[in-house]
Amino acid sequence: MPSIAGQVAIYLHWQLLLYRDKRRVDPQMAPIATALSESDMADLAAFFAAQRPAPPPSAPPASARSDAGRLSRRCAGSRRGRVAISMAR
Ligand code: HEM
Repeated sequence: MPSIAGQVAIYLHWQLLLYRDKRRVDPQMAPIATALSESDMADLAAFFAAQRPAPPPSAPPASARSDAGRLSRRCAGSRRGRVAISMAR
């Protein structure tokens, strides 16, 4: 089930119309969209667009972070790393 919080209202409204008209097909969403009036759809779209998306589930584990540090140090010491750094300036 996709996260709809914070998506653009007109996009959400449009998807509900597509589900209702069977131009987008999903067995869970079809009955929901079919039961909605267009003004319900506009209200729901505005409501979900105003919500903040949930933060990502968790920060990367410490092992991944130290790996990243080790790898970036290795890159900075290589010829490629220097090229990338000089290009970035
Ligand atoms: C029990 C309640 C609900 C369930 C189980 C459910 C489930 C789903 C699923 C499985 C999808 C993806 C379908 C696909 O791949 O096409 C979807 C998409 C969507 N649902 Fe629902 N839904 C529920 C309630 C609602 C409600 C109340 C709204 C009202 C705004 C809503 C709006 C949408 C929209 C706009 C999409 C498309 C999202 C996108 O394209 O990113 N859903 N839902």
